[in-house]
Amino acid sequence: MRDRLIVALDTDDGEDIDWMCATLAETVRWFKMGFQAFSALGMEAFPWFKQNGHKTFVDLKFHDIPNTVARDVGMMTKHGANMINMHASGGFEMMQTARNSADDAAYKANIPRPILLGVTLLTSIDETGFQQNFGSERQLTKQVVYLAQQAKKAGLDGVVASPLEIESIRKACGDNFLIVTPGIRPEWAETGDQRRITTPAEAIRRGADYIVVGRPIIEADDPLEATGMILDEMREA
Ligand code: C5P
Repeated sequence: MRDRLIVALDTDDGEDIDWMCATLAETVRWFKMGFQAFSALGMEAFPWFKQNGHKTFVDLKFHDIPNTVARDVGMMTKHGANMINMHASGGFEMMQTARNSADDAAYKANIPRPILLGVTLLTSIDETGFQQNFGSERQLTKQVVYLAQQAKKAGLDGVVASPLEIESIRKACGDNFLIVTPGIRPEWAETGDQRRITTPAEAIRRGADYIVVGRPIIEADDPLEATGMILDEMREA
């Protein structure tokens, strides 16, 4: 389960990140850098995580014209990111060009290509929020599945989605398509701004390949204990 838990380092305080990574070093394999962690650590994060035996998920959710995203993804690949995401709503061409760019960069650097993921719909958005924000009458799950299918066709390895959508995505995209789920809340944690959530055990039972956990770990009084409890819950499931 260690290989399936991704801890979101959602802070721009380099000392906090150092402390968190040292505290969780033996327990956690994957760390996720969003914009905050990335602004604190920069490109030096990649060799640093690697030296410590960790894998890095660059969660910068690229969303731009194909040429720009291709360059962003190529650059992150060259520096050694192990997982990179982009908004699937950025379009088929954007995702396809990004995949080609990652292939090229990995080939040139003689390193494995990172896992490429499409973000479907943010887990902080619920059905009403989706319809209001997107001016759509479509059912949220249908939109998520459509974006997942587009991501697959464009050559991405999987998607970021809510655990509540795993079953529908699996049906449409098959078993080899990765599903990474944030929106994870153990019974003992606060929900915060997340809306489409489940517990770690439920996400694993539903078939998530990886789960992403931020605040329930990094804001816990004892992050190591919180991580242990989440891993135990995942194992039991
Ligand atoms: O603190 P929490 O566990 O809610 O953190 C979830 C992490 O996953 C955050 O870093 C957030 O940016 C990210 N994320 C998400 N929903 C998505 C994609 C990424 O919550 N659809």
